[in-house]
Formats: sequence, C-alpha cells, structure tokens
Amino acid sequence: MMMSLTGIRDEVRRMDVAKVTSQSLLAQKEHGAAITAITAYDYPAARLVDEAGIDVLLVGDSLGMAVLGYEDTLSVTMEEMLHHAKAVRRAVRRSMLVVDMPYGSYQLSVEDTVRNALRFVKEAGAEAVKLEGGASQAHRVRALTEAEIPVVGHIGLTPQSVHKMGGYRVQGRSEEAAAKLCDDALALEQAGAVAIVLEGIPRELAAKITGLLAVPTIGIGAGPDCDGQILVFHDVFAMSFRSAPKFVRQFGDVAGLMREGLEKFREAVEAGTFPNDGESYHMPVEGVGVLRRDGLAKQGGELAVGVPHSCAKDAHEWATQGVGE
Ligand code: KIV
Repeated sequence: MMMSLTGIRDEVRRMDVAKVTSQSLLAQKEHGAAITAITAYDYPAARLVDEAGIDVLLVGDSLGMAVLGYEDTLSVTMEEMLHHAKAVRRAVRRSMLVVDMPYGSYQLSVEDTVRNALRFVKEAGAEAVKLEGGASQAHRVRALTEAEIPVVGHIGLTPQSVHKMGGYRVQGRSEEAAAKLCDDALALEQAGAVAIVLEGIPRELAAKITGLLAVPTIGIGAGPDCDGQILVFHDVFAMSFRSAPKFVRQFGDVAGLMREGLEKFREAVEAGTFPNDGESYHMPVEGVGVLRRDGLAKQGGELAVGVPHSCAKDAHEWATQGVGE
C-alpha cells in the first residue's frame, strides 16, 4: 500500500525526532517529505519555531532589515550576527541551526571565511553556515567543508548583491541566466554544500535545479517544486513594515495583535484601571504601623483603616514570597 505524504513526513520525523541534521534533510528529500525552514533572530521566536517542529532555523542576515531597521543586509556585522545567533542557540533543540555569513565576512580571503565561520560554530553553536553566490564561491564552500563546517548555498536573488543586480529582481529568466544558475547549483553541490537556497527565480527553473541536485533545495519566491520552503519570520507575521513581495504568505497578524494590546495597555494606564489592587503587593501588618508613624499611609485608603482582605494573607508571607506569588 502507498503511504501518504503526511505519513512519510511523520515517519521521517519519527526517524529523527531528536535532531534535524544535514543527513536527515537528505532523507527528507529522498522520501519526498517537504523541508520547512524559517528565520528567527531572538530567543522567544526561536523557541516558537523549534517547538512548532520547523526543520531548519536560519539566523538570516535579513536580521538587518527585519530587526535592526537597516535599509538592506549589507551593513550587518559579524558581531550583530553572533549576538543574535547566540540568543537563538539558547532556544533551539530540534531544528537545524544555520547562521548566515554577513556581507564582508567571506568576500576577502578563504582564511577569513573559515575564521569567521568557525566563530559561528564555536561561539554561537551554528550547525551550518549559509553564504550567497554560485560557482565563484565554490572554493570557499570546499574550504569550509574541509574544516568540518556544513554549508548551505544561496543562489538566484542574492540580497547581498543588490547593487550588482540593480535592485531586488527575479533572476534566471533568460535561457543563459537559467543555465548559469544550474551550473552554479551543481558547482556548490560538488564543493560540498549540504543544501541550497533558491531565491527569486522562476518556478520552472527551481524545479529543474531541484531535479538536478542530490542535496535539497529550499525555496523562497521559487515556487512549490523545491524540496523545502523558507520565509522570513517577520513577513509571516506581518511585522516587517513593508509591502511584502508576492511570494510571501502572511500566516498570522501578530503586529495587529500587538498594536491592539499596546493600545489597551495605554488606555488602561491612562484611565487608572491598571494596575488594580489584585495586581499590587501589600504591606504586612507590622509594616502598616511604620507607614502610619511616618505619615505615609493613604488617608482614607485601605492602609489607613487597617489591613483588609488580601493584606491579611500577604502580611506574614511578605518577607518570604517571590514577586510572582
Ligand atoms: O537572510 C535571510 O533571511 C535569507 C533567507 C531569505 C533565505 O537569506
């Protein structure tokens, strides 16, 4: 009997519930079980991504635009990537943790590339690094692989090449450009890349590259025929303050929820309804005397007329309780 795709996916998950690795991603490709990937840049988002069973968590250099408010990804530094990758590391258990090499961290010497990638592994617990570019980066991918650092490639619309591309434009639309991207993908695979992100290319080309490669492709704006899909966390939850490109699907309006919550908070504080008595701590019985002596007790208020309701309970527990109790 043929197993359904969901059945296969569940089986792959059972095979590897403990940890997603480059080997388990390969098994997913072989079984036709879609790979899920998303970016995250901080502890709470990374907890949510990991606990939702997403296979790959990328600390992308989209950090620069999504979180740090830069115009593009070019300004993002090694130190900024490390700072956020370390926070994400503390949250991640099951997902494979991939960290982007920021612009300037791998464009100089191969030694520089390896030194910077090693920092992501040693200081931030990265399980793979990602870098942008095709055949021209193959020697760097090989050097990283030889240093035991798994590499995810990234071709097509590569945001670090925004100036060279003349903007964020779909790539690989001409026959020549499409053939070049096929060659790029093969060169990266031959150099040891464990997966390749395909960004902003025609779905037909993404399908062709996916068929050419043994390693998985992970698409973003590359249609449904890749081995997996990745999106930027803040795009998924309407938190990127930009009109999203057409490949983005919004899966929740977290910005809307937050806006509503913030307005309610402001209104409650302004109206004096937050915090209420139940959200306040109370003095112990002995302490009330001190307030009276010092003339600090609220005139006509609860403390001035004795120790009412919850104060009685608080009274003897004040000294030992934590702030949450
Ligand atoms: O930086 C990033 O978020 C990325 C993904 C869009 C693939 O590279």
